[in-house]
Amino acid sequence: MKRFFQSMRFQLTTTLVLFVVLTMVFVSSVVISSVRNEIFSVETKRIETVADQITDKYQKLYEGNALQFDFGHISVEKQKMYLKKFQQPPFDDYIKSLKKNFPELEIGYYIPPINDKTVYLSDPKYMLSKKLTIIKPIYTPKMEKGYIFVDEPYPLIMKPVNEIREESNRVTVYSALFAALFVLIVTSIFTFKIVKIERGLKTLETDLDYRLPHYSGEIGDIAVSINNMAESLKRNIEESQRNEALRTLGMFTAGVVHEVRNPLTSIKGFAQILQKKLEGKPEEKYVEPILHETERLSRIVKDLLNYGKPTPLRKTQINVPSFFERIVALGKQFSENGNIEFQLDCENINVNADEKKCEELFLNLIINSIQAMDKKGKITIKCRKEGEFAKISISDTGCGMDKDQLEHIFVPFYTTKAEGTGLGLAIVYRVVKEHGGKIEVESEKGKGTTFHIYLPI
Ligand SMILES: Nc1ncnc2c1ncn2[C@@H]1O[C@H](COP(=O)(O)OP(=O)(O)O)[C@@H](O)[C@H]1O
Ligand SMILES: [Mg+2]
Repeated sequence: MKRFFQSMRFQLTTTLVLFVVLTMVFVSSVVISSVRNEIFSVETKRIETVADQITDKYQKLYEGNALQFDFGHISVEKQKMYLKKFQQPPFDDYIKSLKKNFPELEIGYYIPPINDKTVYLSDPKYMLSKKLTIIKPIYTPKMEKGYIFVDEPYPLIMKPVNEIREESNRVTVYSALFAALFVLIVTSIFTFKIVKIERGLKTLETDLDYRLPHYSGEIGDIAVSINNMAESLKRNIEESQRNEALRTLGMFTAGVVHEVRNPLTSIKGFAQILQKKLEGKPEEKYVEPILHETERLSRIVKDLLNYGKPTPLRKTQINVPSFFERIVALGKQFSENGNIEFQLDCENINVNADEKKCEELFLNLIINSIQAMDKKGKITIKCRKEGEFAKISISDTGCGMDKDQLEHIFVPFYTTKAEGTGLGLAIVYRVVKEHGGKIEVESEKGKGTTFHIYLPI
């Protein structure tokens, strides 16, 4: 239940419904009050006209008679009698006929001496209600002051106003219902996506390969960000696993290699002596493979030592273009009997790095490229500043690799070559990491390979 009250759906719905109701109430009260004022002013004018007509009529009746009779010469008693007898009937008749035209109005008068009390001509059911009243004084010379009045009961005046109010209440209720329905549908669409993302996150907790579905808008952006985060988390985990494996393996190989190195030197030395002694004899051909194989073993041992016993970095400022000119010259020695073109395209940047290790790093990459190309092809070395990094890209037009191969190339001892040690890229990887850089590979089977190395400037 608490969850429901805290849910976006509930909160948005209540907010919008409240907003709609308040707005409608405000708008309708403004409209109603202006309609009410308008009606009141029209009604006031209407009943004022009626009151004026009656007043006019009385004044005319009185004045007409006053001209025929000289009130000055008769006694007040006689005057009263005269007025009652001759003036009341036409005046009453006039009011009654007028009343027929305005049955809703309440008309009355108090004109001494015609009446001693106020006369009401109206529907008794309105007598007590509030009413709009117009009173007109009547002046007659010598007589007491009188007045006539016209009323219109409030319930009658307010009838159209009340009708409008009812109508607007109805509209308010409908609008609120409509708004609630609308918000419920809209929030349902949104919460549907959010719920999906919530569930996806739960799945991600146990399965980093899961990806959230694609949506449009901000929620889609959130899903994409989460997917990216999962992707980089997965990569980091894999990388740290690889680093750990490399470290263990490094320690292990360093021990073994140390034991192999001395006997190997002896074997090589004795084989060389033997070669001299057997020169020209048929047995000489047996010595040749021993020397070849010990040579190969020495190379492996060197690589392994390099790999297993990392030395601390000795950083200096390296000017990238001149550094690569040297590397290319070295690389050319490895491709002497082939037809390999080198292209160097370097921005003038300096990096702060260990020169010996970088030499090993890039030479490893270039030797791999030469080996991948089988004597003919092109190696391009490109160097650009990219933010805080020097981005060095080494491309070849060699055999390329498939996805499966790409996953393993940095693993020590992984090799596809008969004479390879599989340590070249493992060393490359470590040197790059030691410098705080990163490495990316693009490769297409049969087309070629590009290694991007990022070294901090
Ligand atoms: N430029 C390249 N083109 C194609 N394959 C490559 C390239 N560089 C490396 N490889 C693949 O990666 C493997 C591992 O390379 P590396 O660690 O240098 O060991 P090695 O050169 O001794 O085989 C190679 O055996 C090869 O299959
Ligand atoms: Mg290699």
